Amino acid sequence: MSLKRNILDLRKRKEIVLQGGGEDAIKKQAAMGKLTARERIEGILDKGSFHEYDMFVEHQSKDFDMDKKVLHGDGVVIGTGTVYGEPVAIYAQDFTVAGGSLGLMHARKITKIMDHAIKMRMPIIGINDSGGARIQEGVDSLAGYGEIFFRNTQASGVIPQLSVILGPCAGGAVYSPALTDFVFVVDNISKMFITGPEVVKTVLGEEVSMEDLGGARVHACISGNAHFFASTEAECFEQIKKLLTFIPWNNQRKAKAFPSKAPKAEYNIEKILPADPTQPYDVRDIIKAVADDSDFFEVQQDFAQNIVVGFGRVDGETIGFVANQPLVLAGVLDCDSADKAGRFIRFCDAFNIPIVTFEDMPGYLPGVEQEHMGVIRHGAKVLYAYSEATVPKVTVILRKAYGGGYIAMNSRHLKADFMFAWPTAEIAVMGPEGAANIIFRKEIKESANPEETRKQKVAEYREKFANPYVAASKGYIDSVIEPSETRLLLKHSIEVSGNKTVMTPAKKHGIPPF
Ligand code: HXC
Repeated sequence: MSLKRNILDLRKRKEIVLQGGGEDAIKKQAAMGKLTARERIEGILDKGSFHEYDMFVEHQSKDFDMDKKVLHGDGVVIGTGTVYGEPVAIYAQDFTVAGGSLGLMHARKITKIMDHAIKMRMPIIGINDSGGARIQEGVDSLAGYGEIFFRNTQASGVIPQLSVILGPCAGGAVYSPALTDFVFVVDNISKMFITGPEVVKTVLGEEVSMEDLGGARVHACISGNAHFFASTEAECFEQIKKLLTFIPWNNQRKAKAFPSKAPKAEYNIEKILPADPTQPYDVRDIIKAVADDSDFFEVQQDFAQNIVVGFGRVDGETIGFVANQPLVLAGVLDCDSADKAGRFIRFCDAFNIPIVTFEDMPGYLPGVEQEHMGVIRHGAKVLYAYSEATVPKVTVILRKAYGGGYIAMNSRHLKADFMFAWPTAEIAVMGPEGAANIIFRKEIKESANPEETRKQKVAEYREKFANPYVAASKGYIDSVIEPSETRLLLKHSIEVSGNKTVMTPAKKHGIPPF
């Protein structure tokens, strides 16, 4: 064959593979409101940057008449490309080919690109759209999942791993996304569960729709399995690209710096706290009042809303913000918010992102439900994550810092590098009302006017303890600052910590509370 004919033959072969599962299957995919695997990859990567690997891989299974079936690319598309000019590895399961089910060769393609990403120290994006383990391939499919989970764990803390759920992700398949750093879901498209509605009905007699069992909203709002929720695939791709602007390419690098931009004038930091200390406010406004261009990219926005976590920049540098949210449950720490914060802090620490904490919370949530759900071990995750983190750690106490909350929210005692408090800060074992009721109980009870005495004692306690100056007098707070100084001091803190070095005791790894 001449070179020209060879080339034409190659092109023809490629064309066939590019048809995936064929016209009908692609139409079915479109009818479900879903893009094809290659369209998704193109939607995320820089135009024309994708280079596909293993296009001609075929399955090798023979049972159940599989030897008569051609599965183009074995139901998954893998390769490398760029996002904003930086290299990424990517794979997308192709539901049009045998429902994107995972057989041996399909898994080998995924593990090949994962190995490549780990070796080349670049982020990996995995697009899940699959019926799960390919039933005809039996244990080979299970082996494939195991190999993926192993690599997810090896890659954890080395390269960022993003999972995008754009179709079913059922059975054991869910554990790969669960092992990765960020999970993206899309309304009406993502479905994630260990067992589907049929099994739930058979085993438990419960009737539930796929959407109510494991739809996008369930994972974004209730289970906490998802970190980003989008209404369309296109919106999801923008979220992925935006996240990549905030995080570094691997654990040896810092996130890319951007030109500094002032926060928007509409976020006036002196006007956000209400005059009445018992009134709530949206702590995101505080973050926006210090972040460059007031751009705050929130993570897990709809889950455990009593804590707010996400990325922004101060003077062009990426910052991981962690903030109690007084608008929801007064910003208490509970099981879910502790999990959310702990995981985010550990991501920032692994990837060299300084952490800024805004504190305003009355402590851990009491009650039988929380105790029985394990608020002790969940709450311990925050203590562990802050204590373990060696990136620059800055705390600003805005208002309440009571009890365990004071310690947990990156206190000096967990080795915060910079402790700032606004003059409105109240640092004490508990709030003035509760404290006065306990320590002055006898006096209040025996007084001629108990209510008046109670008010007086609350005021006395507030005057003496509910302020930042007692903690400042002991050096637990470095500086009591005016709100308007906050951005400047955050900038200063990050600049000063440029060469921060921490020596930790030698160990194989810690054992964080699970
Ligand atoms: C082989 C599969 C498959 C699978 C789907 N297909 N799932 N083939 N193994 N697991 C095939 C179908 O036979 C069909 O092939 C094509 O993909 C499209 O599937 P449909 O059923 O027509 O699509 P749809 O109606 O949209 O339903 C999608 C679905 C359903 C909800 C995902 O296919 C389904 O329930 N699949 C099985 C899910 C499951 O139980 N998986 C195993 C989980 S256990 P044709 O040739 O007709 O086009 C597991 C263990 C892993 O994953 C453990 C790891 C630790």
